[in-house]
Order: sequence, then C-alpha cells, then structure tokens
Amino acid sequence: MQDWLKVAMPKGRIYKQASALFREAGLSVPEDEDDSRKLIIDVPAAQMQFIMAKPVDVPTYVEYGVADVGIVGKDVLMEESKDVYELLDLGIARCRMSVIGLPSWKPVIHLRVATKYPNVASQYFREQGQQVEVIKLNGSIELAPLIGLADRIVDMVETGKTLKENGLVELEEMFGITSRLIANRVSYRMKNELIQGLCDRLQAVISPQVTL
Ligand code: PRP
Repeated sequence: MQDWLKVAMPKGRIYKQASALFREAGLSVPEDEDDSRKLIIDVPAAQMQFIMAKPVDVPTYVEYGVADVGIVGKDVLMEESKDVYELLDLGIARCRMSVIGLPSWKPVIHLRVATKYPNVASQYFREQGQQVEVIKLNGSIELAPLIGLADRIVDMVETGKTLKENGLVELEEMFGITSRLIANRVSYRMKNELIQGLCDRLQAVISPQVTL
C-alpha cells in the first residue's frame, strides 16, 4: 500500500461536504458511507483508503501516521494542537467559534465558562486578561447557562438555530472555522507526489473565500 493514500475522514457534519468535494475533484468517494458502520473503506480506483474517524480523533491518526492525511475542522485543530502539517483550507463546513450567553447577562468577577474546547477557551480569556473557570462538557453545551452551570459557553455557531431555540445570544465572535486538509510530517516527505497531487485536485475545486 506504499502507493496508496490513507485518508482520515471525519464522520458526521463534515463528511457530506468533504466527500462531495472529493467527488468534484474526480475522486470516487462513496456518498452514503457515513450512514454505514464500516470504518475502513478502500477505493482502489483512487488508490485511497478512507478511515472513518470521530472528528476529534482525526489529528491523532494523522500525527501518529496511521493516516497520511486527514480532514478536520479548524476548531478541532486548534483545540488538539497536534504536530501535523496544515496544507489546505477546504472552505467547507463554514461556521464560527463564539462566546455565548443569556441576553440578561451581567458582568461577573468569577466567570464560569462551559465548552467542548477547554484549551481554546482558556487561551482566549487569558489573552483578554480575564480569569475564568473552564468547565469541560462533551455536548449539548447550550444547556450550561440555561441550568446555571456556567455564565458563558464557548461553542460553534453554524446557522444560529440552536442559540435561537434556547434563547441564547452570541456575545463575541472569536474566529471563523472551516475544514482543513492536514498531513503527517513523514508521509508528506515520503508520499509527497501523492499528497501534492491530492492538494492540487482539491485546490482546483475549492470555492473562493466568502466572508463569514
Ligand atoms: C454544534 C454546536 C452547537 C450547534 C450549532 O453541536 O455545539 O450546539 O452545533 O449549530 P447551529 O448554529 O446550526 O444550530 P453538535 O450538533 O455538533 O452537537 P453537540 O451538542 O453534541 O455538540
């Protein structure tokens, strides 16, 4: 499999857009594989093996070299800070990271912040010179201010529907998020032609940047 590329693909919200981009680039990625339970999918025509991963684990597979390249959101990349090359902004799965709270928020001295992204949140408030207590949650983060666990949350906003339905407001936009193509450092040298070829094909079909 020396001449094959092993690609870590994130299951879930990014998969549909990522696989559509691959298909546009002429790489025959299965359309509905995200719904199946199969974890390793070989596509001999493209000489690629897709590893269906939990999004947060993609940088780990790539750092350890069990995948040569991977697709991952900038949010996960910033939170995990793994030793990988970030090759390409794919411009898909566009959303933003924001500080969110109840509309009735008041400034408090000891701020509690709930999030799936403790490193990102800690760094952000440290840079703002604000001391906060960060509480790590694994999902349904919007619950935290509603039930009194935290004063703020740091979370992803895509359509804003979740905020609206739960009576929350975006207080500050922290940064924009898109999915990125990342590569293992050794693979990038050893399989440079293959990886560069993939970059070129993807680059050709990436939509131009749209302001968030
Ligand atoms: C993410 C995020 C928000 C929501 C934002 O959650 O944490 O809750 O999507 O999307 P929206 O602005 O389009 O409503 P996800 O669906 O990944 O599930 P989670 O609650 O398990 O984190």
